[in-house]
Amino acid sequence: PIGRTATISFEGETPVAQDADFVQHEAKGEVHVLRLANPPVNTLRTEIRAGLMNGLNKAKAAGAKAVVLIGSGRMFSAGAEMTEFGKPRQPPSLTEVFDAIEGYPGIVVAAIHGSALGGGLELALACHARVAGAGAQVGLPEVKRGFVPGAGGTQRLPRMIGAEEAAKIIVSGDPVPAVKAQKLGIIDAVIDGDLEEGAVAWAKANLSKTFTLARNRTDKIEGQDPAAYDAVIAGLLRRTRGQESPKGCAEAVRAAFTMPFEEGLAKERELFQSLVSGEQSKALRHIFFGEREVLRIPGQPADAKSLPVERLVVIGGGTMGGGIAMSAANNGVPVTIVETSEEALKKGLARCHANWERTVSTGRLSQEEYEKRKALLTGSTDFEGTVAKADLVIEAVFENMDVKKEVFARLDKAARPGVPLASNTSTLSIDEIASATQRPELVVGMHFFSPANVMRLLENVRGAKSSWATIATATEFGKRIGKLPVLVGNCDGFVGNRMTGKRTPQVEKLLLEGCLPQDIDKVMEGYGMAMGPLATGDLAGLDIGAAVRKARGTVAPVADAIVAQGRFGQKTGKGWYMYDEKRTRLVDPEVEKIILDVAEKMQVRRRKISDEEILERLLLPMVNEGARILEEGVAYRPIDIDVIFINGFGWPAFRGGPMFWADSIGLKAVRDKLAHYAELTNDANLKPAALIEKLAAEGGSFAGMSAKANA
Ligand code: NAI
Repeated sequence: PIGRTATISFEGETPVAQDADFVQHEAKGEVHVLRLANPPVNTLRTEIRAGLMNGLNKAKAAGAKAVVLIGSGRMFSAGAEMTEFGKPRQPPSLTEVFDAIEGYPGIVVAAIHGSALGGGLELALACHARVAGAGAQVGLPEVKRGFVPGAGGTQRLPRMIGAEEAAKIIVSGDPVPAVKAQKLGIIDAVIDGDLEEGAVAWAKANLSKTFTLARNRTDKIEGQDPAAYDAVIAGLLRRTRGQESPKGCAEAVRAAFTMPFEEGLAKERELFQSLVSGEQSKALRHIFFGEREVLRIPGQPADAKSLPVERLVVIGGGTMGGGIAMSAANNGVPVTIVETSEEALKKGLARCHANWERTVSTGRLSQEEYEKRKALLTGSTDFEGTVAKADLVIEAVFENMDVKKEVFARLDKAARPGVPLASNTSTLSIDEIASATQRPELVVGMHFFSPANVMRLLENVRGAKSSWATIATATEFGKRIGKLPVLVGNCDGFVGNRMTGKRTPQVEKLLLEGCLPQDIDKVMEGYGMAMGPLATGDLAGLDIGAAVRKARGTVAPVADAIVAQGRFGQKTGKGWYMYDEKRTRLVDPEVEKIILDVAEKMQVRRRKISDEEILERLLLPMVNEGARILEEGVAYRPIDIDVIFINGFGWPAFRGGPMFWADSIGLKAVRDKLAHYAELTNDANLKPAALIEKLAAEGGSFAGMSAKANA
C-alpha cells in the first residue's frame, strides 16, 4: 500500500521559508506553471496552500489562460500535512484554495507524476482536468489513517466516476494506477515523456475546450440505486471488521448521490472531524509514524553503512528457509538454499514453486514474473562451495543450540571474510551462536515470522558484538526484500514471542476458572485480532507448546489434558476446537468436558468471567513484560513494541498496539489492575514492573517515553 512508502515531513525539520520557496511560479506564454516544492513528498502544509493561492492570483493578474499544477521531486503530493492536525488551522484552507481553482477564469490542469494521494488527489480533483505520467498512481488512503478524505474527495470523485467505483477506492484506500484511473475517468490523458512539457502542450491544445468541474457534474450519480450501493458497501466492509473509518467513508460517498454538493461537503467535514479526533485514528497515525520511527535507530552513527549484498544464501529449506528465500526472489535478489540432502532440497524448492503457482492461478502473479522468480531461486547440497559465494547468509535450520553452533562454525570457515552471518532463531542466544565463529561482529539475528514470504515484520537481533555495519546490512537488506525491520536486543524470545509467552499462563487460568476456548477467542477477535490465542495454537500445533513445557519442567493442566487426548490442533483435525474437511473451526463438546474434569479434579469453583476481565488478563501481562523489555533496553522505545505487534502478530492497526492500549487506559489504572490481577490469580508475572510503577507515579506515559528517546 502506497501510504506505507510515503514519508512525512516533520515540522521543524524544514527551515522557515517564504511560500514562494514552496511553490515555484513560471510563465510559459499563456500557460503558467506552479511547481509544488515541499520535499520529500509535497505535503500540503500551510506554505504550499498559501503559495498556490498567491500563484493563482498572479497568474490571473497576468491573464494566463491556463495554469498547470505539478509536483517537484518524487511525486505530485502525498496529501495533507498530518503534523498540522490538532493545531490551530492556518489560512488558507484547502477548500479556499479549491474555490480559487474552480473560480479561475481559464483552466487549471493537474499534472501528476509518482503519486497523488489524499489531499493531493483532492487538489487534482478540484482542477478542470488531470493528466498523468505513465507510472503514476492516485488514491485516497485516509481510511487507513482512521478518517475520511476531508477536502471534498468523497463528493467530487463519485461525481466523476460514479458512487460505486468511488466507494471502492475510498473505502479500501488502495491506490489506482494511472491507466486504470484513465479508464475510470479520473485522468483525462496519460502522457509519455517529460510530464511538464507534455502537460503545458496538452493545456495549450485544450484551451478552447469547456470542462465541467467535478462539483457540477451529475451524469454519473443520477439514478444511483441506494440498494445497489449498499450491497457494494456490505461487500467492502466485510474485510474491515471493527474499524470505524471505512463505515464513515461509505456514509460520506452516500451523501454524494443523496445530497446537493455543498451539503455533501458539510457531511464529509462532520465525519472527518469526529473520526480524526477519535481513538482509532490516533492509533492508526501512531502506527503510521511509528513504522518510520523504528527505522531511525537511536545511537546509530550517521556513517554506519550497509555492506553490499548481491547474493543471499539461506541455510535450511524448511518452512522458514523457503519463505525467506521466496521473499528475496520476489524482490529480485538471487538466492540459493542449502540443504543436507537432495531429497530435502527438492522438497523445499517444490514448496516454494507450488506457493508461487497458487498465486499465478489466482491471477495475482503473471507467468512471466513467476519464471523470473523461479530463475532467481536455486538450491544446492554443496555447503562450502555455495557459502563461499554468499554476500550474506541467513541460517534457518532446526532450533537447537548445538546444531546452530556447528552450522555457524562451518559458515565461518566457508564464508569469505567480511560476510555477515545471520540466524533466524526464534529463541536462542545470538551471542552464544556468535561465539562459535571468529567473526562475532558480523553475526546478527534476523528473526522472520511465519509465513516468511508474507509477514512484514523482521525482528533484527543485535548481539553484544554486532557491528553497526552488520546491523545496517540487516536493516537495509530487510527493507530491500519487503520487510519492516525493527532492531531489538538479545534475550529469550526477543520482543514479540517473549511478550505473548506471558499471556499463555493467563489463558490456562481463565480456562480453569470459567472460560471455554470460544469465550476467549471471541473477546480477542472482537477486539480486532486476526485470530484468538486458542485458534492460533491449533494452527501452530499444540504439541510444540507441550514439548517446550516438558523441556522446561512446567505444567499446564488444561493444555496438557487436551494434548494427552492426541488433540494437536488442525493437523490432527482436533485441538481446542474440532475441524471439518474445510478446516472450519467448530466448538467441540468434548473439550468442555475435558476442561470441566480438570477443574473438578483441581477443585476449582468455576465462575462467569466478564469479557472485560478476559481482555485485561490477556493484554496486561504483555504490557507488563513490554515494560520489563524497555527497562532492559531490549526494545529502544515503546513504539518499537507496538510496531512489532501490528506487523507480526495480527494485532489490528486501529488499536495501535499493546503499549498504546496501556497509555489509552492510563498507566495508573494499568498499575492498579496489574496489582489486582496479580493477587487474584496468584501470578507473580503480573506484579507491576518497576517502569510502570515509576511512570504511574510521575503521571507519565509510554508515548512520552518514545518522544524522549527520539529527542
Ligand atoms: P524446519 O524444520 O521446517 O526446517 C529446517 C530445515 O533445515 C530442514 O529442512 C532441515 O533439513 C534443514 N537443515 C538442518 N540442518 C541443516 C544443515 N546443517 N544445513 C542445511 N540445512 C539444514 O524448521 P523451521 O520451522 O523452518 O525453523 C527454522 C528456524 O527458524 C528455527 O530456528 C526456528 O526457531 C526459526 N523460526 C521458526 C518459525 C516458525 O514459525 N516455524 C518462526 C520464526 C523463526
